[in-house]
Amino acid sequence: MRTLTPYMKKYRIFAILSPILMILEVMADIAIPYLMSRIVDIGIVNRDIGYIVRVGLMMIGAALLGMLFGIISAHYGARAGFGFASEIRESAFRRIQRFSFANLDEFSVSSLITRLTNDCDTIGRVTMMSLRMAIRAPFMALFALIMALRINASLAKVFMVAIPVTAIAIGIVLIKARPLFLKLQTRVDRVNAIIQENLTGIRVVKSFNRQDHEEGRFSDRNDALRDTALQAIALIIFLMPVLNLVIYSTIMAVLWFGGQQVVMGTMGGGELISFITYITQVLMALMMISFFFMQLLRGSASVNRVLEVLNTESEIEEIDEPIKNISDGSIAFNDVWFCYPGSKERTLRDINLNIKSGEVIGIIGSTGSSKSTLVQLIPRLYDVTEGSITVGGMDIRKYDIEALRDQVAFVLQKNTLFSGTIRSNMRWGNEGAKDEQIIRALKQAQAWEFVSQYEDGLDHRVEQGGDNFSGGQRQRLTIARALLKSPKIIILDDSTSAVDMTTDARIQQTFKEELGHITTIIIAQRIASIQYADRIIVMHEGRIESIGDHKTLKEISPIYSEIYESQQRGVGV
Ligand SMILES: Nc1ncnc2c1ncn2[C@@H]1O[C@H](COP(=O)(O)OP(=O)(O)O)[C@@H](O)[C@H]1O
Ligand SMILES: [Mg+2]
Repeated sequence: MRTLTPYMKKYRIFAILSPILMILEVMADIAIPYLMSRIVDIGIVNRDIGYIVRVGLMMIGAALLGMLFGIISAHYGARAGFGFASEIRESAFRRIQRFSFANLDEFSVSSLITRLTNDCDTIGRVTMMSLRMAIRAPFMALFALIMALRINASLAKVFMVAIPVTAIAIGIVLIKARPLFLKLQTRVDRVNAIIQENLTGIRVVKSFNRQDHEEGRFSDRNDALRDTALQAIALIIFLMPVLNLVIYSTIMAVLWFGGQQVVMGTMGGGELISFITYITQVLMALMMISFFFMQLLRGSASVNRVLEVLNTESEIEEIDEPIKNISDGSIAFNDVWFCYPGSKERTLRDINLNIKSGEVIGIIGSTGSSKSTLVQLIPRLYDVTEGSITVGGMDIRKYDIEALRDQVAFVLQKNTLFSGTIRSNMRWGNEGAKDEQIIRALKQAQAWEFVSQYEDGLDHRVEQGGDNFSGGQRQRLTIARALLKSPKIIILDDSTSAVDMTTDARIQQTFKEELGHITTIIIAQRIASIQYADRIIVMHEGRIESIGDHKTLKEISPIYSEIYESQQRGVGV
């Protein structure tokens, strides 16, 4: 909880005012039964209409004031609660933006979504309730108890039975509720996981006709969530009749013993009525306390889950005075070894490599030979396990991460576009890009040929994930977006796989001639996509098998010549 208090700072005033106003409301609530007993015992007994009207008006005044304080307090409580939650959500969102790829491997996307929505909402709601109930209930119980004692101390003995019985019932429920609420949250997570996985892959699900299977998986988890929710509700439902029983038995006991006192004349009728109101208030307050604790339990499950996000440090650390200026696009790997966090296997072994600024490098190798892993280390998407990597002659860990990533443009294997227009997507690379710049980049990536066909050109809509483009169009757009950053190094991880051969060849040509100053690394499956590279790296099982140009590799590398021959055959000479 202490870690979370700073998030309340902006809403502190509401968090303080809400309980204060609440206490005023409680006072009005307490005054009303007392005033009523005066009307009955003094006004009615003495047939004093003036007195009845005077005290009656005071009662109305107290009720109105109580209502006013109550409304304002509820309003402030809501502001504090939901304001608090939105601050936490924002900070968690910011934290996730800084997550390294390794952090993202650790949390699932759906769990992060639940934590940011459902869990933050719960925190807001619980905070709002705490601000009101946690103050209202004990004050109410205390004041009502005092008033009851003042009216008739001997009759107040009924509390000695009623309070312990209520406390035991509440205690039992709370002990049972705790594990249930944790379970409930993980169940919500699991339902969200399947929704998220399915909606992002809905086209695959449909094309494989797996709807029935997926519906089955979904309803299993959905049923599990419903059952847990019902179990939690059942606990609360159990508490209601028990508390009602206690309240009514107490009222009956009071009527029995108090009625005798009224008959004997030692107690006023009005006093008896107000006494009953006070004991009801005390027991209601106890009920409220139990609900409050229940909410608190629910809230603490959510707080823990959000804290896990807030307390996750990015694996990628920045040094104190990072260098912002990257002199050129040269890259060197020095004795680099790498294993993915949490995996024992070494994914990259003993990598030594020197790339000159402006060179065009091709990388080829079977799937799983660690081509993607190798290039992901350059913009520090992951950090090396052993050894070092330099860019522009300087260890990449000495650079400001933003500056490094600005200079190393990465077109990921699974790159997506975002909903908006072509222009807004291109500006991801460079916020202030003018249309001429965007068009130049689109031309370089061979994307202008289809973008210029659209009537609305750069304003053409992009659906979520870029679903309204073909695979090859999407790849060319993501290349253009990367070029707009005017980087010193550009990495294309299998980014032209869906582009036809002719266009692919034109993209290569552009990189070699027009963009000769940019160090280019192209990972490809097709030899044709890298044939003209200055040098080609052949990867095999996490190691560099050989390096050389197309001609040399055909002679010295068995793996390369095998790939070459199989692809020549594929072309069908
Ligand atoms: N995020 C990850 N966590 C753990 N292991 C991974 C991760 N990404 C890839 N790997 C493993 O690293 C190896 C190399 O993968 P990758 O570099 O993607 O190969 P390539 O790009 O050559 O097909 C594979 O065996 C893969 O299972
Ligand atoms: Mg790959």
